[in-house]
Amino acid sequence: MTLSDFLQTIRTELEQGNVETPSLDARTIVKARLGLSDADIIAKPDLEISSKQQKQIERDVKDRIAGKPVSKILGQKEFWGLDFKVTAETLSPRPETEILIEAVLDFVTDKDQPLNILDLGTGTGCIPIALLKELPNTRAVAVDLSEAALDVARENARAHGVEDRIEFIQSDWFENVPEQMRFDVVTSNPPYIANPDLKSLPKEVKNHDPILSLDGGADGLEPYKIIFDQLTHRLKEGGHAFFEFGSGQRESLERLVRDSHTNPVRVIPDLAGIDRVLEIKMGKR
Ligand SMILES: C[S@@+](CC[C@H](N)C(=O)[O-])C[C@H]1O[C@@H](n2cnc3c(N)ncnc32)[C@H](O)[C@@H]1O
Repeated sequence: MTLSDFLQTIRTELEQGNVETPSLDARTIVKARLGLSDADIIAKPDLEISSKQQKQIERDVKDRIAGKPVSKILGQKEFWGLDFKVTAETLSPRPETEILIEAVLDFVTDKDQPLNILDLGTGTGCIPIALLKELPNTRAVAVDLSEAALDVARENARAHGVEDRIEFIQSDWFENVPEQMRFDVVTSNPPYIANPDLKSLPKEVKNHDPILSLDGGADGLEPYKIIFDQLTHRLKEGGHAFFEFGSGQRESLERLVRDSHTNPVRVIPDLAGIDRVLEIKMGKR
């Protein structure tokens, strides 16, 4: 079968399977499995797809219809223009987290500065790795409670050539981060789903992203309470911290920030207009 006919066939299957974005998913799977670019998809409609290739992709299509996200089918997800390995033990990076990367880069006026970054709850390592790619003299410490997630993050750091500038620490938030370490920038996209809301998450999320990456405790704010509590001891003078948060959490978070003797600098919305990233600084406003 030709590429063009095969794409049409699986697009129809995905559509009939009630997949929300059938064209995009069909293209993403075919491109990844056949090692093709967007340009190839347009330029090579007559490319012959072998029956072996078709069988593998048909299995992917079945998984997709059963609710498995494309990132978990392919074991990779693009973030900040870079491919990240993802596994069952890691959250698949989300586009809205790129807002956090942009916010940090706005704060760092001199990109050649030698900064120290701490990322709490690193998952695939997408946040510190994207930042290290942009900031050539910066070093990062990346923390996760999950050893399995840290293994994936280490692999991603190697794949993107930043392994010499990043240290991984298995830790319950700040617990195993050496006391004397101070940071210019702290970043975190912690789990922020309120426990009672977990069961109503889409099945793609609740069945395929690890619970440790989702569950933010009774009100979804538990990780922030723990992290904010220690922030003043961990940020350098003049340092800023950047947190992703969920819809409707802004006011509670700003209250928590004031209680922790740090100050909100700004809140940045995502592309859908939902408040998404909170930037905090030390000391008085
Ligand atoms: C929402 S995910 C974010 C992953 C990644 N930073 C991203 O933006 O795609 C939250 C991460 O926090 C980690 N985590 C959960 N509880 C933790 C804890 N107590 N200490 C450290 N990391 C924790 C999870 O394992 C998960 O990797």
